[in-house]
Amino acid sequence: MITRIAAHRGGASLAPENTLAGIHKAAELDLSWIEIDTQLSADGVPVIIHDKTVDRCSNGNGAVADLHWSELQQLDAGSWFDQAFADEKFPSLSQVLTICQPLTIQINLELKIHNGDDINKLCEQVTRVIEQSGFPHQRLLISSFNHQAMQQIKQQLPDIRRGQLWETISDDWQEQLQAIDAYSAHCHYRFLTKQQANQVKQAGYQLICYTANNPDEVREHWHWGVDLMITDTPQRYLEMP
Ligand code: G3P
Ligand code: MG
Repeated sequence: MITRIAAHRGGASLAPENTLAGIHKAAELDLSWIEIDTQLSADGVPVIIHDKTVDRCSNGNGAVADLHWSELQQLDAGSWFDQAFADEKFPSLSQVLTICQPLTIQINLELKIHNGDDINKLCEQVTRVIEQSGFPHQRLLISSFNHQAMQQIKQQLPDIRRGQLWETISDDWQEQLQAIDAYSAHCHYRFLTKQQANQVKQAGYQLICYTANNPDEVREHWHWGVDLMITDTPQRYLEMP
């Protein structure tokens, strides 16, 4: 089992991002972790998709927040990546939890909040789906760039691990991590410094970096104490101890 690598968007170089096909590929590689993004459809279904619109990753167009789940399900979310994935759909969070439940894989669920999104509703719907699924809480880690969302999730799902996302670790990182009783700090690998890494680790948090697709660029990071690397290319890290 590969414990220190997470397949970004379910393994975005292996299959169309944020699809069940990608998650299956990540599981086949024996990865411990996937990272996926969720936001709400117009009728409040948590859907697994990264962008504000469906344009880049499907044959449709329009904002996810304006499309109903029934409309999203009609879209081909795989052909843009490769014709072999023409049957792929945008999965719901519920579907992903069902598929992952019998596997041992852990899920880093990123709450994706675009301008104008209803943070409160996203947190409520995600909480509802997780509770209904029966998915083991100890195999989930919820993260977001949006600190308010993380504070709400702390109230609603106190026993699920929480991570704060930044590009560059914020000057008030300690305050933010304490406020959400965080498990982990997440940042872009390019902006992490050795000093920041030391401080975060000394404060007792897990340190997670994204999106490092070339193992050569992050050789130092492991020595600095990075615990988990999120990557589109997990297949390049298979030789890692
Ligand atoms: O969770 C890490 C990473 O996924 C954050 O960036 O834009 O790929 O969701 P993004
Ligand atoms: Mg993400």
